[in-house]
Amino acid sequence: MNEFIQSLPKVELHLHIEGTLEPELMLKLAKRNGIKIPFNSVEEIRDAYNFQDLQSFLDIYFQGADVLIHEQDFFELTWAYLLRCKEDNVLHTEIFFDPQAHTERGVLFDTVLYGIHRALEKGRDELGISSKLIMCFLRHLDEESAFNTLLKAQSHKDKIIGVGLDSTEIGNPASKFERVFKQAIEQGFLTVAHAGEEGPAQNINEALNLLQITRIDHGVRCSEDASLVKQLIHERTPLTVCPLSNIKLKVFDCMEQHNIVLLLRQGVCVTINSDDPAYFGGYMTDNFLAVNDAHPMSKTEIAQFTFNAIEASFVSPSEQEKLR
Ligand code: ADE
Ligand code: ZN
Repeated sequence: MNEFIQSLPKVELHLHIEGTLEPELMLKLAKRNGIKIPFNSVEEIRDAYNFQDLQSFLDIYFQGADVLIHEQDFFELTWAYLLRCKEDNVLHTEIFFDPQAHTERGVLFDTVLYGIHRALEKGRDELGISSKLIMCFLRHLDEESAFNTLLKAQSHKDKIIGVGLDSTEIGNPASKFERVFKQAIEQGFLTVAHAGEEGPAQNINEALNLLQITRIDHGVRCSEDASLVKQLIHERTPLTVCPLSNIKLKVFDCMEQHNIVLLLRQGVCVTINSDDPAYFGGYMTDNFLAVNDAHPMSKTEIAQFTFNAIEASFVSPSEQEKLR
């Protein structure tokens, strides 16, 4: 079964490009850019990756992102991820980036975007991997900062397909960004949002109703509300689930307690994704393997995750046919 999983064509829909910064590249960029980080070796960095919850991870994640300064840094970061995609037979990937994590430090929006975009074009041409880019608003920052970020994306609609919402879920409700999402939709951006990762099922309802999103990032706490699960099944609202992330951030105590396979068998359009693979110890294949180890599945069930991801992706119907 492991060989089947390794060679299975995959589609990733929930991946923060800043979360693919491996310790080796972090050290290299820190040195190259003269940025002080509180680590001297790869081992020290990996030892620090013991998270109690989402916030303890985010603190380290934003600190890591500080080493990214130049367009070339964002290019190398993205290119390294695409090479891992190739190893895992990922054919298509929809990537988040957090512009505010960089513009807040004085790095220009265009520096970030052009570095990532250049690697994605090379990935398409040289590796045959298609991709879409989704710009996330940091929910711990205010509405004004999100509006400013949306403004910067105006002239890049050819490169950015949608907007999302990430960072600290608890204490930063969807309602804070209702007006920003309304404007983004009016401007033609597709919309997604993290909801029901650490926060309760009600946050998923709010994200669906207030932000008009077309897919939910994480959403695993939907199981606490039977009528919500029924609605997700009925409307085929996709959930981009990140199994290894959920264990590392203690959303579930262990993979045996994870609800992804139960949701799949209930008929929810669930997908498997890696979230921040450099921090959570696994890319796409690792996530599939970890789920199957804890919840042995048939080949048909495993392949259903890829079919769900194709259905949930932002590629056009004719492009979807090519992925099937
Ligand atoms: N940013 C990067 N990874 C995240 C996650 N798992 N939840 C919320 N924000 C994030
Ligand atoms: Zn995420």
